[in-house]
Amino acid sequence: MNNTKDNIRHIAIIMDGNGRWAKKRGLPRSMGHRKGAEVVKEICQAAGDAGVKYLTLYAFSTENWKRPQEEVDSLMDLLRQYLKSDLKELKEKGVCIRFIGEREMLPPDIIKNMEKLEAETANNDKMTLCIALSYGSRQEIVHAAKKVAELVKRGDIRIEDIDEKIFSDMLYTHDIPDPDILIRTSGEQRISNYLLWQLAYSEFFFVEAYWPDFTKEMLNDVIEKYKTRERRYGKL
Ligand code: FPP
Repeated sequence: MNNTKDNIRHIAIIMDGNGRWAKKRGLPRSMGHRKGAEVVKEICQAAGDAGVKYLTLYAFSTENWKRPQEEVDSLMDLLRQYLKSDLKELKEKGVCIRFIGEREMLPPDIIKNMEKLEAETANNDKMTLCIALSYGSRQEIVHAAKKVAELVKRGDIRIEDIDEKIFSDMLYTHDIPDPDILIRTSGEQRISNYLLWQLAYSEFFFVEAYWPDFTKEMLNDVIEKYKTRERRYGKL
């Protein structure tokens, strides 16, 4: 919260528009996701170069499970490949990789590789790439509320002790600072159940480009615009 404008710690992104990018080219939607995954690597590199310490990407929402099975399967296959190739490459570059979301919903082989990658990169400190997978913010908040209730039930804390800090500590993002910037691509202007608690004071940027067309120049443009915004956190 006491971040200065020139010190961007955390950027969160809703990578939207893969399907429309593919449709525009007469390609299957899976090709849009494939191209989108290539862009992830480039943007992660560019964010690191710009001194950003945390990058959180919305890769698959709890609502995305309702997409046709064929698309869910192709996204899971892409994730499988990504865990073995690009994320491994980021690991070698000193990136700490984290996943947030209801991971128990994911296929067991993917969970195993996610946990392996998290363990292997836990001490990497160049930057943290946090991937929201099977993630829904309302679900995360309900999950946190249950954990707080459990602490009260066990007698570890009293109801009067519950404050924002205790609540934040129960979220998947407990050890990650709140995002300074939220970017959503594809021209849509919605938050879509993403980081509802954490985005309370973030600056929002809506970019027209579909995610597969998003470039590091566009990222740097957002960063420059962010520096001209005044963050008051409700104060005068
Ligand atoms: C939204 O576009 C994008 C997704 C639901 C998936 C995002 C996934 C990737 C970018 C690739 C995988 C990423 C990693 C980190 C492995 P959409 O399908 O909703 O597009 P549309 O609104 O145009 O239909």
